[in-house]
Amino acid sequence: MARILITSALPYINGVKHLGNLVGSQLPADVYARYMRARGHEVMFICATDEHGTPAELAAARAGKPVAEYCAEMHAVQKRLADGFGLSFDHFGRSSSARNHALTQHMARRLGEAGLIEVRTERQVYSVADGRFLPDRYIEGTCPNCGFERARGDQCEMCTKQLDPTDLINPRSAISGSTDLEVRETRHLYLRQSLLRDRLEAWIDSKTDWPVLTTSIARKWLRDGDGLQDRGITRDLEWGVPAQFPGAPWSGMEGKVFYVWFDAPIEYIAATAEWADAHGHPDAAWQRWWREDLGAGDVRYVQFMGKDNVPFHTLSFPATLMGANHDGTEPWKLVDYIKSFNWLTYEGGKFSTSQGRGVFMDQALEILPSDCWRWWLLANAPESGDADFTWTSFQSALNRDLADVLGNFVSRVTKFCSARFGEAVPAGGAWTEAEHGLARALDQRLAAYGALMEAMEIRKSAAELRAIWALGNEYLQAAAPWSAFKTDRDRAACIIRVALNLVRLNAVLSAPFIPATAQRILSALGCPDAGWPGAAAEALAALPPGSAFRVPENLFEKLSDARRAELEARFAGG
Ligand code: MF3
Ligand code: ZN
Repeated sequence: MARILITSALPYINGVKHLGNLVGSQLPADVYARYMRARGHEVMFICATDEHGTPAELAAARAGKPVAEYCAEMHAVQKRLADGFGLSFDHFGRSSSARNHALTQHMARRLGEAGLIEVRTERQVYSVADGRFLPDRYIEGTCPNCGFERARGDQCEMCTKQLDPTDLINPRSAISGSTDLEVRETRHLYLRQSLLRDRLEAWIDSKTDWPVLTTSIARKWLRDGDGLQDRGITRDLEWGVPAQFPGAPWSGMEGKVFYVWFDAPIEYIAATAEWADAHGHPDAAWQRWWREDLGAGDVRYVQFMGKDNVPFHTLSFPATLMGANHDGTEPWKLVDYIKSFNWLTYEGGKFSTSQGRGVFMDQALEILPSDCWRWWLLANAPESGDADFTWTSFQSALNRDLADVLGNFVSRVTKFCSARFGEAVPAGGAWTEAEHGLARALDQRLAAYGALMEAMEIRKSAAELRAIWALGNEYLQAAAPWSAFKTDRDRAACIIRVALNLVRLNAVLSAPFIPATAQRILSALGCPDAGWPGAAAEALAALPPGSAFRVPENLFEKLSDARRAELEARFAGG
């Protein structure tokens, strides 16, 4: 039994996430967590909302609410949706928690003591009317490149050019609209990441089993990118982790908070502490996942994220953890494997909240049960390249894979048994070559499925699972219990007994992908706590003759062409 720590990138607090966000980290992480638990490993699966930064403040302002209240509400919404999708987090925390405040300040203090944080004086835009320094995004003006009148101080949304606030023509405060702006001197904390370059490079070089997609992004940032430049880690915001605190090895940071990308990954650790608090466990309970000296030496730590998050997880966050261990007294657990994803597009374009284009998590759950979405998303996960959601593809996955292959098999077997033998596993008959052949085929596929799941090959695992489902229908078609029943009742009993066991086996194997359906099948069969199978021959005899079951209600409803067209139109946007 191994110990596996799994984190999913933390979703930003502002707004409900779309299906592309879901499949880019949380959903595949859940499949992996469920699989590893089923294999008997000890798993800690952590996620949280990423609550700080300007986007959160701006979204709260738009909603007309104090930011703390807005975040609390949105956290509850995201938590409910995560539950609705069956995301089996051990804890879904909040980066605004007291734990994260304390741990972020602790890490910053350690970095400061190591000489890795420096106070720099810089010139920054101050709004006299608002009485505060403005972060880049809080300054609007005309883009010098394309003339767009509502360009932001960090970037022009129209032409995507990266900007400095001082580039803007007619700059004004995005808070009050005031143009009474001055450039004043202010002090900020800088993380001297460049001092850690050699250690980071050696660490990346040691990751020979990482996908090239991941290491190449890291190397590019290490060598020629801006990635390892010293990084400003404070901002002039109210909402966040205060950068001035008792015991801080600097002064003059009043009114500033840490940059959101500094505190967010620390929340992976803090959320595990939140988990311990929620269960009344002592600190040792979370430390054994995160501190090599306190029991995390044998933990395997896997992170799931979209590819845009890779630089922060291969360089910035490890730099924080390495720097905090400058004297060897705090060996924090570094990631062992990063699984990253490309983008999911929607009918050939982008998902867009403002245009109402694409399906968002809340809408998805109103339309169809979560397993329908889980199945399509995972079977089409954007692993080797971008993937495109289309209603046609979704309809076919739902109607063919789920309804025709899996659902139909379960329903044929249980209904036939119920009608001919009653609602208990029938006795009689001995295995023939057909059953032995089925077991051999299953053994092969089980081995392949397991290997793909270990390797986190989500799409390929789904394809293998689908092939396992198909074996059931092929077996039933060839063995034809309905004909056997007329001449040889025992033979029919044997086939149905094997088929019922195969129904159970399918449910067990499918649980990481479609957990709610798997649970429905297993409870219909009266065995809700099924373990992962060993040899197929044993698994096909797990339900003993005489054990009672009931026919599950229709597992999947098909999506009609008319309904598909209606949904296509509803989410087309514009
Ligand atoms: N909120 C970020 C995003 O959605 C991800 C943060 S991951 C963390 O891109 F490590 F910083 F937490
Ligand atoms: Zn522009």
